[in-house]
Amino acid sequence: MRVTELDRASVDHVLTTTRAVRRRLDLDRPVPLHVVYECLEIGLQAPTGFNLQNWRWLVVTDPELRCALASIYRRALRPFIEMMDAHTPADDQVTQRVSVSSWYLAEHLEHVPVHLIPCTTSRVVDEREMWASQGFDTDHWNMAASSVYGEVWPAAWSCMLALRSRGLGSSLTMIHLAAEPEVAELLGIPEGVSQAGLLPVAYFQGEDFRPGSRRPLAEVAFQERWGETLEALRES
Ligand SMILES: Cc1cc2nc3c(=O)[nH]c(=O)nc-3n(C[C@H](O)[C@H](O)[C@H](O)COP(=O)(O)O)c2cc1C
Repeated sequence: MRVTELDRASVDHVLTTTRAVRRRLDLDRPVPLHVVYECLEIGLQAPTGFNLQNWRWLVVTDPELRCALASIYRRALRPFIEMMDAHTPADDQVTQRVSVSSWYLAEHLEHVPVHLIPCTTSRVVDEREMWASQGFDTDHWNMAASSVYGEVWPAAWSCMLALRSRGLGSSLTMIHLAAEPEVAELLGIPEGVSQAGLLPVAYFQGEDFRPGSRRPLAEVAFQERWGETLEALRES
């Protein structure tokens, strides 16, 4: 398909309205797995370092496993929610809404029909040792972390966009990683494999989503040097 044939409005709409869906997940409507596989397949077109494609995916539908995952998730989330609630100013309604909605998801997680666990076959600690063994003389934690999780998040996000365009909602979560070894044991994930997160997937209720509130571009993007205003936004 040529660029001129792309329906840019639809593409941009999906890109700007793929939200973290928690309270609008339809917990009663079954999700056909072939639709999920289609979205995972689309995700496989995402980039990976050296095209190594170290990503791995677990599609969890078994009710007992979902129940166990939900219980681990809640245990991991509780202290974070308590910490957030204790530090969120009374007038910060956005953060308060995220907190309430995150806990809602946790409380209903076992009823979300499909849990996707994106993984990668490398680990930050191993990656770092590999860089060190190649004679790099600086600390490479950041490079290792970026390359390990960068192996899987672009694919996961593509998958979420594809889900959204098919009427399915999800949300990028990673709180269960506080108990990553427990989940590895539960799901038989071998040593050396990193889990990146958990995407709960269900059809969403309602017609559409709106773009979320974000900091303005001028506040978060700089030109040439850190802190310098984007050229087009400079006052003449
Ligand atoms: C690195 C990362 C970790 C996240 N972890 C969680 C999580 O553990 N639980 C959750 O419900 N949402 C999680 N989220 C979703 C964010 O809360 C959500 O994207 C953000 O509040 C913006 O909301 P929106 O996408 O609906 O605009 C995470 C998002 C990112 C990028």
